[in-house]
Amino acid sequence: MSFGIDDLPVRDELRGKSPYGAPQLDVPVRLNTNENPYPLPEPLVERITERVREAARNLNRYPDRDAVELRTGLAEYLTKTAGHPVGPENVWAANGSNEVIQQLLQTFGGPGRTAIGFEPSYSMHALISRGTGTHWISGPRNEDFTIDLAAAREAIAGHRPDVVFVTTPNNPTGNAVPAETVLALYEAAQAAKPSMVVVDEAYIEFSHGRSLLPLLDGRPNLVISRTMSKAFGAAGLRLGYLAAHPAVVEAVQLVRLPYHLSAVTQATALAALEHTDTLLKYVEQLKAERDRLVDGLRGLGYDVTESDANFVQFGRFEDSHAAWRDILDRGVLVRDNGVPGWLRVTAGTPAENDAFLDAVRQMQSLVGDTPTPPKEQSA
Ligand SMILES: Cc1ncc(COP(=O)(O)O)c(C=O)c1O
Repeated sequence: MSFGIDDLPVRDELRGKSPYGAPQLDVPVRLNTNENPYPLPEPLVERITERVREAARNLNRYPDRDAVELRTGLAEYLTKTAGHPVGPENVWAANGSNEVIQQLLQTFGGPGRTAIGFEPSYSMHALISRGTGTHWISGPRNEDFTIDLAAAREAIAGHRPDVVFVTTPNNPTGNAVPAETVLALYEAAQAAKPSMVVVDEAYIEFSHGRSLLPLLDGRPNLVISRTMSKAFGAAGLRLGYLAAHPAVVEAVQLVRLPYHLSAVTQATALAALEHTDTLLKYVEQLKAERDRLVDGLRGLGYDVTESDANFVQFGRFEDSHAAWRDILDRGVLVRDNGVPGWLRVTAGTPAENDAFLDAVRQMQSLVGDTPTPPKEQSA
């Protein structure tokens, strides 16, 4: 027998678990990881090259440990787009919002502490909790995937978590969480502990509504987490950031690795920020394509969860994994997030979305299978 992972002295809570693993398959149309389908525009590629060339001349030195120029640029972007003034002292950046979340959990979670999220939601909140030794609690949702506020309040009062995650727009369901709900959860979390409330706004630029950034006013235990992976079309860059009270920014520096953001990353992100206006034009196109997917799927008789993101959750399937496989066999990779009866498709280019809608249409006509009619949904 060969030596395997089970033969290693791995931490007990990691035994038998699977890593995060959205399939990266080589198929013509990949609509499974909520990426932006548009490559960066050529003038931006040029600007990145210039900035990285400059940075390369100083790679013998460690980068700016506090990424002040980048945090200043991110603060300006937030101030301009979210209608609430923030400065670099309110902003922290890391390698993807996954690392931001990890640093938050290392700071405010950890062994003997607890985090809660309302599932189905972004699976990494639970996985990073596990990785940081934070006990994870899966909070409830209504059948229509809205947050069940009464049950959520009860769960917060009962478990007194140290960290509360709210994802808006939510992944994989796509629906946004109203500001009043977030405020109610914040109040409940403060009354119970007090604890940190992390609002994950990875998809906020695609929303019909506005960022919850203004809620930071007077709420030092609130954190808004953001990323350049989606709206900025820069998933390969690995740049996430948060906005919060300056005390939070100070606190996460207790756990960040020294020089965690490479000079190349900082230079690339600064170049992207110079091209914000062009990048956000793609967001408008993607929102229109998202709406076309919603209409197309509804036209074919599917149930679609209201989407404020760059993806759409659709169903209902007797066997969602079989439906996923069938769509894949037609050359289109969508995501089976393990939500029974539902699949998720990311808005791609118009041609990719046409290919997806064709695949779904063919699947119906071939299998002769119409979607399972919606069951009674709670309010
Ligand atoms: C809700 C949510 N938060 C965070 C992330 C992670 O983004 P990043 O690429 O910035 O690590 C994702 C990625 O899919 C996401 O869906």
